[in-house]
This record gives sequence, C-alpha cells and structure tokens, in this order.
Amino acid sequence: MLHRNLLLLRRTRMTSFSTFSIILAAFCSVQSQNYRQVLEKSLLFYEGQRSGRLPANNRIPWRGDSMLEDGDGDVDLTGGYFDAGDHVKFNFPQAWALSTIAMGGLDFKEGFIASGQLNNLLEAYKWGADYYLKCHTGETELFVQVGNATADHNSWDIPERWTDPRPAYKITAERPGSDIAGETSALFSAGTLLFQTVNDTYASILLDHAKSLYTFANQYRGKYSDSVPEATPFYTSWAFEDEIAWAAAWLYRASGEERYLLEAEALYAEFNLQYVNDFSWDGKASGVDILLYQTTGRAEYGQKLISYCDWVVDQAPRTPKGLLFLSEWGSLRAASNSLFVCVQAGKLGLNTEKYFNFAKTQIDLMLGDWGRSFVVGYGTNPPTRYHHRAASCPSPPVPCGWSEFDNINPNPHVLNGALVGGPGPNDEYIDVRNDAVRNEVAVDYNAGFQGVVASLEEYFGSGKK
Ligand SMILES: *[C@@H]1O[C@H](CO)[C@@H](O)[C@H](O)[C@H]1NC(C)=O
Ligand SMILES: *[C@@H]1O[C@H](CO)[C@@H](O)[C@H](O)[C@H]1NC(C)=O
Repeated sequence: MLHRNLLLLRRTRMTSFSTFSIILAAFCSVQSQNYRQVLEKSLLFYEGQRSGRLPANNRIPWRGDSMLEDGDGDVDLTGGYFDAGDHVKFNFPQAWALSTIAMGGLDFKEGFIASGQLNNLLEAYKWGADYYLKCHTGETELFVQVGNATADHNSWDIPERWTDPRPAYKITAERPGSDIAGETSALFSAGTLLFQTVNDTYASILLDHAKSLYTFANQYRGKYSDSVPEATPFYTSWAFEDEIAWAAAWLYRASGEERYLLEAEALYAEFNLQYVNDFSWDGKASGVDILLYQTTGRAEYGQKLISYCDWVVDQAPRTPKGLLFLSEWGSLRAASNSLFVCVQAGKLGLNTEKYFNFAKTQIDLMLGDWGRSFVVGYGTNPPTRYHHRAASCPSPPVPCGWSEFDNINPNPHVLNGALVGGPGPNDEYIDVRNDAVRNEVAVDYNAGFQGVVASLEEYFGSGKK
C-alpha cells in the first residue's frame, strides 16, 4: 500500500518535492479518506441548496421556505435548486447536475448503498426533477430560468428574505433551445432508470417527458442563449449538438428502443462528435461515448474513452502538488468531471486499475492529501469562508448584507459537503469569501465529484477502515 502510493506520487510532477514531503505525503495518503462520510455530506449540500417550500424532514436547520412566488401567471415554478452562492435557478447547469447525479447513482449504486445514501440520492434527484416537470409546460414549451441574475447578484442576503418579483424565461418552437431541452430530456431519462424499481408510475412520467423534450430539441434546433438572451450572459451555451446526441443516447439506455440508438449514432455522425472533450454542464461529448460504449460495447467508443483518459492520467496539466488543473474557474470541478468519465471507463473494463488508482489519488488530494480539505465540513482544515450568501449570513431576524460578504469571520452556518472551486495553477488557495473563482460552491460542482467518490467506495471501500 505504502509502496504503491509512493510510486503514484512519483509519477505525478512532484520532482521538486523533498524526500521528506514525499514520505509525509505517502504517510498521509495511507490514512484513508472516509468516502461514506463524503457522500453523506455531499447529499446534505444539495439539501442546503433547495429552493421553495421545504418538507418537514428538512435536515438543514438554518434554511427555510424561500421564493414561494416563483412562477409565470398560473404556472407554479417553485422548487428546484439555487445555482451556487446566489439564488437564481439556472436550469441549464442544474439539469446537467441532475443527469450526472442520476448517472452516478445508476453506475456506482453500490457505493451509495454501502454508504447508506441511496435514499438521500433519490430524494436529491427528485427534488430537482419535480421542479423540471413543472417547467415543462407543453410539447414545445420549457422554462429555462427563474430569477434576474443582475438583480440577484446586486444583493447579499438569505433567499428566505427575497421579496422582489422574479422573471421566468422560457423556450418555445419560435425561440428554441436544443441544448437545454436536450439536457432536460437526459435528466428525465436517467431518472427513469433510477426510479423504475422504486416507483414505476413516476419512472414512466419521467420517460414521457424525456421523449417529448428530445423531439422538441431535435426538431427545433438552436441555442437557448441565442433564443433567450435575457436569460444570459451566465451559462451561455457553446453548442447544442452534443446535448441532442446525449439526449438520444440516454433515451436508448432508458427505453431500450432501437430507434433511439439509430438516431444517437446518426446524430453523432452528423455533428462529428469525434473529439472527446471535457465533461461539464456545457460539454457532453465524452458522456455520449460512455453511454454508447455502455449500451453497444463497440470498440470505437471505447478507444476514444481510452485516448481521453490516458491523456488525463499521463499528460493533462497538474499543479505542483499533483492536482489536475483543467480550468481556472472551479479547478476541482473540472478535475472531478474528468475523473467521472474515467472511472466510468474503468468500470466498463477499460484500464480499470489505472483509472481507479488515479481517481483515488486525485480525490484523496482534494479531501486532505493536498494539505487541507476542500470539502466544507469534512476532514482537516476545511474551507469556512466559501462564497455562499445563505451560509455567510446570520440567522434571521439579524440582517445581512455586504458587510457580511466583506468580513473575515468564518461563515456562521456550515454548508456541509460543498466542494469549493479549488486552487490555482500553482496551488494558490486562500479561504476567502470574495474569491468566487476558487471559493464558490455550486450544484454542478458536486455532481461528478460525488459520482467519483461513490465509485471509489465501490472499488476500494472505505467506511470500515
Ligand atoms: C434585472 O435587474 C436589473 C437590475 O436591477 C434591472 O435593471 C433590469 O431591468 C431587470 N430585468 C428584468 C427583465 O427584470
Ligand atoms: C409514485 O409516483 C407517483 C407520481 O409522482 C405519485 O403520485 C405516488 O405517490 C408515488 N408513489 C409512492 C409510493 O411514492
């Protein structure tokens, strides 16, 4: 064990490390992380992000009902999740977070079961999916955002105290958004599989919506950020093609209907999705490869996954301490998402040991081996001044504002389980609230991350040690 860790460390770019730090780091990584506890907390994080009327079994005592007027005319749009430290419901990244939460739950279910977290995972998914069912108001009508980002970002306060009206934005046949319709279809397909043995009625409702949204996405093509520019500039979509293919591939996995496989493969060819890129709220191409390799086992998809994951393990940029560094904003999110692709590949039999060992080294760095924990409420020296309005404000009726944003005190509430953005390219990191690039937390940060943690629990075990 010790020997293997030393080898893994040497393979990272830690040439400047002294012998002492190598031994120290190896010693630390022997103290295995408690993945079960991380999963428990990650799901608590999602509970802390809930918008709407909270149920009686809410486990976050410092959160209450909020945004109960969200809607459009007669349409009720309460519920769902706040995006990050702010209170807008940006449906595009949130939808990807939900499809990825569900995918982690489907493909690494044993990890969630071993941790006693399967039920919390289903609840986390359903809280989001129920909101998306409300958003899907017609065959060619889907709400894509609630809240005015400019107005929201001008305020620093708890969501429970917000009273201004919040605009809701939608796509239609005239103002299409294949990206967000496709991603919403994908989240419903993934949920179909997650719930089919739990509640068949719910599963078939999800599948009906998934099919309808896929048709909408494919027939009325365009980017939601072009069609509904009022709802941007946040989360502007780079392309819509990958989401249409992702939706088709998910529908094949969820329904087993051959036509969706044929369409997924035709779309894959039509859109030339040949370059595997990083998996994220905006990029789904590598996710399509996973789904198509899972369902068909064809070597061409497996080869692409291997070439991507070999690059991630052997060549991708890293910080001096060895963390993958693929994005300036939210570096740990980008790292986790790439690991999510590669543990999926590993589970499908592609370089299994290599990809799982690498994922373990990376996740253990995030959880403590780097020198501190980057997960709120977990491990040694976790972040305490993460960029999050609700957690940084005292409980009502004490007011809150920009002085709470500026002060140097730790947040009075602990948003357990939140993965912060993470260090810069040279391991720069300060636990300070006004650095949103490195200290924000968001619903898309934890989605791939918790899937990887579940995969490690499944592959290595942890809770017993
Ligand atoms: C959004 O908020 C900004 C700042 O308060 C305001 O100027 C703008 O008119 C608002 N837009 C909408 C659509 O409500
Ligand atoms: C199953 O899902 C349906 C549709 O959402 C719901 O009405 C029903 O109460 C659920 N059943 C159980 C046992 O939770």
